[in-house]
Order: sequence, then C-alpha cells, then structure tokens
Amino acid sequence: MLTTDNNSLGGWLAIIDCSAQNSQLIARQIRKNHVYCELCPHTTPLAKLMERQPKGLILAGEAAGAYADADCSVPVLRINFDATIDASAVVLKSNGGRLYTLELPTGMVATQQCQQILHDFAADICGCTPEWTMSNFIKAAVAEIKEKVGSERVLCALSGGVDSSVAAALVQRAIGEQLTCVFVNHGFMRQGEPEQVSATFSARMGANFVPIDASERFLSKLTGVSDPEQKRKLIGEEFIRVFEEEARRYGQARYLVQGTLYPDVIESGTASAGVIKSHHNVGGLPEHMELDLIEPLRQLYKDEVRELGIELGLPAALVWRQPFPGPGLAIRTVGEITRERVQLVRRADAIVVEEIEKAGLAQAIWQYFAIITDTKSVGMMNDKRNYGYVVAIRAVDSKDAMTANWVRLPYEVLDRISSRIMNEVKQISRVVYDISSKPPATICWE
Ligand code: XMP
Repeated sequence: MLTTDNNSLGGWLAIIDCSAQNSQLIARQIRKNHVYCELCPHTTPLAKLMERQPKGLILAGEAAGAYADADCSVPVLRINFDATIDASAVVLKSNGGRLYTLELPTGMVATQQCQQILHDFAADICGCTPEWTMSNFIKAAVAEIKEKVGSERVLCALSGGVDSSVAAALVQRAIGEQLTCVFVNHGFMRQGEPEQVSATFSARMGANFVPIDASERFLSKLTGVSDPEQKRKLIGEEFIRVFEEEARRYGQARYLVQGTLYPDVIESGTASAGVIKSHHNVGGLPEHMELDLIEPLRQLYKDEVRELGIELGLPAALVWRQPFPGPGLAIRTVGEITRERVQLVRRADAIVVEEIEKAGLAQAIWQYFAIITDTKSVGMMNDKRNYGYVVAIRAVDSKDAMTANWVRLPYEVLDRISSRIMNEVKQISRVVYDISSKPPATICWE
C-alpha cells in the first residue's frame, strides 16, 4: 500500500535501517509529527530508493554498504549514538551541503526534544508537510484498493480482533459490496465476543458479513485434548476447512484481506509474496488457495491502526480490545478441553475483564485474563466441602509482547476479582495471581 504515492501525503522520509531498535523509535517519532516515513533495509540500492522520491534520508547508527557515504539529491541526516553526550549538547548540525548530523544519547530518542529536532529536519530542511493523518491515509488507501481490485470479489477472514476488523472496515470503505467477511466462531471466544463482532459487522456489511458458528464442530475435535501444541494444530486445521468451505460458497474471490501490521513486515524481513503462505494471523490458510493478498495495514503501527479504526467509525470497545490469541480460550484451559471447563474459564475471564474495566485500568494494561488450571483444590461452600478448580489471574504490561512484566494490580481489585469468581462460579474453589514476568515465563500458559 501507498508505495508509489507517498508524496501525495506531504512527502516521505526514508530511514535506512542500521540499528533496528533505534530506527523503529525514530520512525515512531517522525510519524508522531504527521510525516510519513519507512524503514528501508540498508541493502536497498540507493538508485532504487531514490526512484520512490523520498524527501530526505535518515541514517541511524553505523551506516553500511551504499549508504556509508551516501551522496544523493536530497538532505541526509546521520544520527550517531553516543552515551557520553549531554542532553544540552544535542543539536542538529550541518556539515555543509545536504549532510546533517546529530549526536544523540540512545535514551533520548523517545523524548520530546528529539521529536522536535526530527520535526525541524523533516519540515524545514526536507520540506515535508504534516499530512500523514489517518483521514488522509484512508483517502489514499481507498483509491489504491479500488484501483487494484477493479470489479473482482474479495474475501476477508475476520477474527474480530483489532487488526482484521480495521482492515475489513477499510477495504469495505473502498469496495463496499465486493467484500465478503467470514467470521468463524470456533467456540473459544470470550464472553459476548461472537455477538459483539456479529452485531458490529452485520450492521456495517449486511449480507456481505457471514458469521459461521462452528463451535460444536471445533469442540468435538478438541474435547479430551490436553497437549497445547495439539490444540493449536487441530484448531488451525479445522479453521482452514471451515474457511475453505465458506470461500467456495462465495464464489470466485480473487483477493484475500489480511490485517498484517508494519512490525510483522519488519520482523519477517522480506517483501510480501503475492500468494498466501501459512500466515498465523488468518489461522494458517493453505498455499493452494493462491488468493492474492491485500494488506492495507502493512505500513501501520498498532496505535495507528487503532486511530484508523476510530476514524472509520468502529466502536471504541472493538478498537481498544486487548490482544487475544487465535486459539482463544482453548489455550487458557490448561489440561483437557471439556465444554464445562471452557465455560468456566469464560465466566472467570469475564469477571476479570469487568473488574479491571471498572477500576479504570483497562487501557493501561496490555493483557489481562483468567486461566483455568488442571489442579483442583479443597474449598468450602455453605459449610460443605467443595473440591473445585484453581483459576489463575494474569495481567501483564508489554510494548510488543516480546517481553512483559506482571502488573502490580491494586489489592482491592484482586480482592474483588477473587471473591466474585469464587462466589459466582461455584466450580472454582481457589484463585491465584500469576507473578511471573516474560522471560522466562510466557504471557500465555500454553
Ligand atoms: P506468549 O505466550 O508467547 O504470547 O508470551 C505472546 C503474545 O502472543 C499471543 N499468543 C498467540 N497469538 N496465536 C496467536 O494468534 C497463538 O497461538 C498465540 N499464543 C500466544 C499472546 O496472547 C500474547 O499477546
């Protein structure tokens, strides 16, 4: 998306990727200034990059290859990281001509001061105008999708998560009736989730939204399975079957919409092939489908996607939804999957969500949920022995899910969660709080 047309959005800057983490932070700062920028591998030939007419280049860290002494027709900013530099000494210098330098302590990249310097470089030196806004992005993306798709049919495997929901809404804005969204409810969704997704998308898409309740089908495959990998594999396979059957029913679709984000693209390190590979975010669809991909979010960060979702009129509750794994509650049911245990963890999870929302903490915490363990413990209920399940509560903070810290939830919130779960879900006799950070623990238990 938007690979040829960036100049219509106020011009763009190319960040030559010399130090992955800092380059990402610099890109975030420039975009906060409403200027579009992209990370470009340092292996990209300079001439090829210049064909796309960036208004400036930024080399963050030790430049390599063609960029070590880049001489081009646009301003070049070299950022050198030096821990010994004092913040007051950080200024943008010109070495004459179009070459600018900035000596920066690493810890300063995310500051307001650095954002201002990058703003000055982009606006005053390169002549970029602050037009990278979600409403402008929508206009450009809609035009591009329309042109690409023509009169073909397009399918979207909609999970109800933020990314696929926003991608679907954007494509629908572009091509309306030509888009069919298939939402497969595998029965391991959170409380109220299938209804919420269905209501939102039926209202927006009418007959072009197809909710499939495949929960019985999935449950019969998964009942009795306790190995986490086996659960994932069975859910992935079954998802493919259901989706393929539906896809056949909806005829000759040529394209498939995916909610791939910019960090996924950068992490994978390659340009996307036009043919589907087993992409986990649509459940591992098979290669032989050979649908061409439409990935309208592949240049956006998560917070930009959320902003886009709001701009497209999606409900805030959907846009601010916390990350939820594709296999859903199946991998929050430790041990054997049974209908009853999935229902118990769903009810406990709903209480966790409700209490965290009530405490006003929902947006501050990356992920919070309940896990039903395979341990039982003795409790008391109305003066009688109650041999029930142990449920664990997990709440973590993270930026990218690669590392995570357990959240110091207020005791009062933990107290309300614990007493509500044990009082309202009788089969649960004990609630524990998970105080493990990642690494070495993972966020999910399975
Ligand atoms: P872990 O447990 O690896 O989780 O620390 C990192 C993030 O990924 C989510 N997660 C998954 N998402 N399919 C998904 O789509 C999966 O199988 C899966 N396993 C974990 C998890 O919720 C967390 O946000």
